[in-house]
Amino acid sequence: MKILGIETSCDETACAIVQKDPNSKAITLLSSTISTSLGLHAKTGGIIPEVAARQQTNYIIPVITKALLDAKTNLEDIDAIAVTYGPGLIGSLLVGVETAKTISLLFNKPLIPINHLFGHIYANFIGNTSDISFPALGLIVSGAHTDLVVIKNHNDWNWIGGTRDDAAGEAFDKIGRLLGLPYPAGPAISELAKKGDPKAYRFPRPLIGSPDFDFSFSGLKTAVLREVQTHNGNALNESTIEDICASTQYAIVDVLVKKTMKAAKKYNTKSILLGGGVAANEMLKQKLQEKISQETFDAKLSVPPKDLCTDNAAMIATTAFYNFKPVDWSKVTADPELYFD
Ligand code: KG4
Ligand code: ZN
Repeated sequence: MKILGIETSCDETACAIVQKDPNSKAITLLSSTISTSLGLHAKTGGIIPEVAARQQTNYIIPVITKALLDAKTNLEDIDAIAVTYGPGLIGSLLVGVETAKTISLLFNKPLIPINHLFGHIYANFIGNTSDISFPALGLIVSGAHTDLVVIKNHNDWNWIGGTRDDAAGEAFDKIGRLLGLPYPAGPAISELAKKGDPKAYRFPRPLIGSPDFDFSFSGLKTAVLREVQTHNGNALNESTIEDICASTQYAIVDVLVKKTMKAAKKYNTKSILLGGGVAANEMLKQKLQEKISQETFDAKLSVPPKDLCTDNAAMIATTAFYNFKPVDWSKVTADPELYFD
């Protein structure tokens, strides 16, 4: 069985074809194509929704065509279409949703609307899944979301906490902007952090000890702003920037690791599944793995490869395999505010 996935929730236009092998049940990635308008947003320091939506319309047909060519298949040969219907930017979402609906109608294929947030977790289910067992804990850390979910099985997800203000990726991006780094700043901050001292600045770790599973990252951005302001408008030197990057990354990772471990212990989860762009962060993976090894309980950490952490369509098609709930094309609508039920 082959599913074609479409993802257009933000600034990436992506299409992928995944196949389920009837013998091994494993999900194989046949092709994955991603076009991004990131270069345009780097200049403005953040995403302008209208610009992102316009690029979606330019990229969508070439991206689908390339994904089909790479997988050596065609639309007649596809068994179902999966599409992200939210959350995201309305203009961007509409491009993917309307394209998927059109394909579903024209080629008479089942259409499966997918929640982008579930998709980030299902990036872990591509290829070898031997490390994954339920109950699992999902940590979604992206540019727009920071959420912890307990997953008892594919149909039973329980949201236990999330950010009260900025998302983890948003904190990286906003702090990067204060430091004059290009958008998105997560990768640049983690690179510069390698040369800096993570203990040079003791930035706040809001809610780190709170009894819930919520997060808050906006205070960290304010603390960095204050630090930058102490330089009275003078450009920060290289080593100061590296120290701020290392201390910022340390503060964000510290909070994410503490809350994740607390939840894994409380819910006795057998796997911890990361997803979202910030899951590509090396320090986050390393610190979580370190903590897991020190614990008495036996949870296995699963992190998708870097290109499946950030937005892609393979994760959307894969989600559809595990949640095969087709909806008539005429009833599928984009939902920018979609969250967990
Ligand atoms: O999942 P994603 O591609 O898009 C959303 O759904 O939001 O995540 C993008 C976010 C950006 O905020 C970016 O700065 C962050 O992921 N990011 C990272 C790294 N790579 C991407 N943050 C920290 N370290 C990284 N290596
Ligand atoms: Zn995402």
